[in-house]
Amino acid sequence: MKENQSFWDRYASDFDAIYGTKNSWLNNVINKLFRGSMKMRFEKTMQIIPDENVSVIDIGCGPGHYCFSLVQSGQREILGIDFSEKMIRLAMDHALELGIEKRLKFEVLNFLEFEPEKKYDYSIMMGFIEYFEQPEIIIKKARDITSRKILISFPVAGGLLAFQRRLRYKRRCYLRLYSHDDIKELMKGLNINTFKIEKIQRDFFVTIDMSQVS
Ligand SMILES: C[S@@+](CC[C@H](N)C(=O)[O-])C[C@H]1O[C@@H](n2cnc3c(N)ncnc32)[C@H](O)[C@@H]1O
Repeated sequence: MKENQSFWDRYASDFDAIYGTKNSWLNNVINKLFRGSMKMRFEKTMQIIPDENVSVIDIGCGPGHYCFSLVQSGQREILGIDFSEKMIRLAMDHALELGIEKRLKFEVLNFLEFEPEKKYDYSIMMGFIEYFEQPEIIIKKARDITSRKILISFPVAGGLLAFQRRLRYKRRCYLRLYSHDDIKELMKGLNINTFKIEKIQRDFFVTIDMSQVS
């Protein structure tokens, strides 16, 4: 886990650049390859979460871009957590630049050790679950802390870009890619029936409806 944490600390600035904060020639090329899915999952998340007074936790929030958009486009209570100090520092700096630092919260936290005192209406986990060997633990934990919907992105297995991604992550950080059936199996094992899987380019976008769970 420590290795993963330091990987994300080292990668933080380059990851942030995918959102257009640092535009070198190489970054532009890399970003083009990734932007499609990332943009779509971002837009989908914004569409699903209502702009009324709801609480949202962004798990593995990275440099915080989902949190900023959620806070700017609606009356929402937002908490972003990430175990990389560097990511959270970037998120806090961006929030200051945007002048919204008082309207949201960021905390350096390992989700596996997180014990919240309350439930959140919505949990989002974008670009997160693929880094865990036991995704069941992550979803169970998210289920315990969410009252309305859990939104998760799963990277699609297969294809040239997936192969290239596997190569990039080899020896740097654990990475698992998923098929549609893998996700169905995972949900079945957790006894979750109220979920929807949508393919959006290189990701599956999964919505678990907690309000339907008895
Ligand atoms: C690919 S980034 C995604 C960031 C953000 N969700 C987005 O889509 O822009 C994955 C993030 O998950 C964080 N992360 C990985 N394992 C974690 C854990 N156990 N607890 C908290 N954060 C974690 C990493 O530090 C990294 O910032």
